Amino acid sequence: MPELQPQTTASPPSYDLIILGASGFTGKYVVREALKFLNTPASPLKSLALAGRNPTKLTQTLKWAAHPNTPPSIPIITADTTDPPSLHRLCTQTTLILNCVGPFRLYGDPVVAACAETGCDYLDICGEPEFMERMEAQYHGKAAETGSLVVSACGFDSVPAEFGLMFNSRQWVDPAVPNRVEAYVSLESEKRIVGNLGTYESAVLGVANADKLQELRRSRPRRARPAIPGPPPPKGPTIEQQKDIGLWAVKLPSADAIVVRRTLGFLTENPRGLPGRNESSEHIEKREAFWSTVKPAHFGVKIGTKSLLGILRIMTVGVFIGLLGRFSFGRWLLLKFPSFFSVGWFRKKGPSEDEVRNASFKMWFVGHGFSDSSLVLQGSRKPNMEIITRVMGPEIGYLTTPIILLQCALIVLSQRDNLPKGGVLPAGIVFGPTGLQERLQENGISFDVISKKALSG
Ligand SMILES: NC(=O)c1ccc[n+]([C@@H]2O[C@H](COP(=O)([O-])OP(=O)(O)OC[C@H]3O[C@@H](n4cnc5c(N)ncnc54)[C@H](OP(=O)(O)O)[C@@H]3O)[C@@H](O)[C@H]2O)c1
Repeated sequence: MPELQPQTTASPPSYDLIILGASGFTGKYVVREALKFLNTPASPLKSLALAGRNPTKLTQTLKWAAHPNTPPSIPIITADTTDPPSLHRLCTQTTLILNCVGPFRLYGDPVVAACAETGCDYLDICGEPEFMERMEAQYHGKAAETGSLVVSACGFDSVPAEFGLMFNSRQWVDPAVPNRVEAYVSLESEKRIVGNLGTYESAVLGVANADKLQELRRSRPRRARPAIPGPPPPKGPTIEQQKDIGLWAVKLPSADAIVVRRTLGFLTENPRGLPGRNESSEHIEKREAFWSTVKPAHFGVKIGTKSLLGILRIMTVGVFIGLLGRFSFGRWLLLKFPSFFSVGWFRKKGPSEDEVRNASFKMWFVGHGFSDSSLVLQGSRKPNMEIITRVMGPEIGYLTTPIILLQCALIVLSQRDNLPKGGVLPAGIVFGPTGLQERLQENGISFDVISKKALSG
């Protein structure tokens, strides 16, 4: 008879949530947002730990985030992305990691690898398309197998775009269908609009590695494309004046359109959405009903300002980053003098609390489509209907991003069985039918229908 082995039962994770990179500029605002939900009566967040490479900075972060209250007793864990065993230890101590360590192309891979290996869930605030697609290529299979849910871009990149597009597309009630939705982002403030170096560095490295993204895509099977009624959108002018919303606008090369396309790709392959790990029949019904109302559309994002001069400033920054970002000396210059090359929009020490408090965003979604899908079958090529919707909220990087990240985390903690067992997936396809939009509305990010009208001629 074989000798009986002592049974080893893995002890349950100690924390609901670990925030990795909590000492960073964005990380500290994420901690502040998390404290609002820690141990409150209806919250699933009962235990939290902060992780990073510098315990002293993490302790200061906790003090800053709890101010003016006394900091709660929250464990501080040392972990470094260059030390994989420290990441493995993190994964065994929690069910979910919120990763705020960026640029993600430099530091993110080992964190996703550890989560995919151990089955720990993972959310981040990445806005770097090459990182997201590379993680999907490398870890989707493993994560699906171990039950690790890996979702990037759970911040201003790209939840307002994903949920804003879905919100607009759901206003097209049968037989109406959208053909294209153009999003216009407008950043507003009575003070200055400023971002921290971390985001700027991620953008600069994105330009430097643009060819790597193309290479990756060429090496991968193409994702299914949705069938969108009507012709592809016309190219349009480089600078556009959108009179309906009072903005001048130019194309914004952000992650948004790419992330939206990934979600629409998953939806095309799974028209009823992705089944949950252990879904109730009630949730299956809710999920299928939700996705049956989302209609795909061509999607693009532009940045808008009230004056033409504002657009010229944006284009100047685009030219600086686009040209200098390709060469190592150029990148050195860009990162050495961020304020100069970003005309004051990015600063090494980030915005002041006052600047953060005073800033806000509006994201307009101008949808064009057909009042009746049969018009397309009859050969009509020109949309005859317009629906404008808007997503609006506080400052994008350090208020809206933490709000979104925390609400995604609370959904993972409270509705895990309704979400896919695992895999590397975009936020839209994972959180679409979970009530994330309503949660964002309750937390200061609004979704509104602005107008619906017939287009003449
Ligand atoms: N989705 C969005 O809309 C959005 C919004 C805001 C920010 N972001 C992204 O978030 C990222 C962070 O930006 P940020 O401005 O907060 O940057 P940051 O202030 O430089 O913070 C970076 C954090 O990463 C930590 N870190 C760096 N290397 C590490 C390592 N080897 N091991 C463990 N931790 C390490 C830093 O720790 P130390 O404190 O010890 O240096 C710090 O906590 C960027 O990629 C940015 O693009 C996205």
